[in-house]
Amino acid sequence: MDEIPVTLTVNGRRRVVLIEPRKTLADTLREDCELTGTHLGCEHGVCGACTVLLDGEAVRSCLMFAVQAVGSEVTTIEGLSPADGSLSPIQEAFRQCHGLQCGFCTPGFIVSVTAFLRDHPNPSDHEIREGLSGNLCRCTGYQGIIAAVKMAAEGGAGVGVAASGGAGGAGGAG
Ligand code: FES
Ligand code: FES
Repeated sequence: MDEIPVTLTVNGRRRVVLIEPRKTLADTLREDCELTGTHLGCEHGVCGACTVLLDGEAVRSCLMFAVQAVGSEVTTIEGLSPADGSLSPIQEAFRQCHGLQCGFCTPGFIVSVTAFLRDHPNPSDHEIREGLSGNLCRCTGYQGIIAAVKMAAEGGAGVGVAASGGAGGAGGAG
């Protein structure tokens, strides 16, 4: 299949990539945009590791072709971290609450939590569990993750839900 130029807007930056039309958004972000914070676990829509924001909504980038994102704003985990390399408030809450162990699932969780808390600023425990049911973690048992979402929602220990644009930050590597 021939490669075609595709223009994407990722983390506020316009990027033109030369890809086959059948290439997924996840692979395009990782291989062509060098944004490897978006992880690939199951590659068929189950685990949530590949979650990114598309016009603010959490989507699974393994289930989309990159060409479907043309004209939309894509935000990856790198775009949710402060440019100075510090942690975003939600990342900080995950750190403080031990919401990660190996960290493989963490970028997907951080992206999902960002959209979730924007829509549910004062979530109940049930809403948190429901809201994160599309993200799987093999390590933590979820309790630390749920505590981190609560901390971020409550703005505990200086943590709020505001996210800033930029590159880098924990939960965005690999
Ligand atoms: S890698 Fe996309 S949902 Fe698992
Ligand atoms: S921290 Fe290892 S999979 Fe979630």
